Amino acid sequence: MAEVDWELLARHAQDAMGRAYAPYSSFPVGAAALLDDGRIVSGCNVENASYGLTLCAECTMVGALQMGGGGKIAAFYCVDGAGAVLMPCGRCRQLLYEFRAPGMVLMTSHGVRTMDEVLPDAFGPEHL
Ligand code: THU
Repeated sequence: MAEVDWELLARHAQDAMGRAYAPYSSFPVGAAALLDDGRIVSGCNVENASYGLTLCAECTMVGALQMGGGGKIAAFYCVDGAGAVLMPCGRCRQLLYEFRAPGMVLMTSHGVRTMDEVLPDAFGPEHL
């Protein structure tokens, strides 16, 4: 995979954040992924009056990835309502793991990390 354009990925995440439906938490989130074929997919959180049914931004992003023909994630960026880097929640790390390309990297509050660093000893399709 060529060099990641983190600024471009951040912009896609911020645009997605602007589409969030977060009337209950007032915490909009945007997520964007660079796929191994160069495409970028994104998603936003979509909340629900039945709070536990909330979809994280990563959920809708992964839905968009699959609906767009599938693919593997080379790099990932997630932002909060202020546009600051946000760590994906534990459940969403698992969602990302499923679609990771070898060597997948994420922008984190501590800089660029690998998927294996943010979800060590992960359970995955290889265990089924
Ligand atoms: N949220 C995400 O969209 N992704 C995460 O990784 C963390 C949390 C959303 C869910 C909810 O709508 C709001 O942030 C507050 O938890």
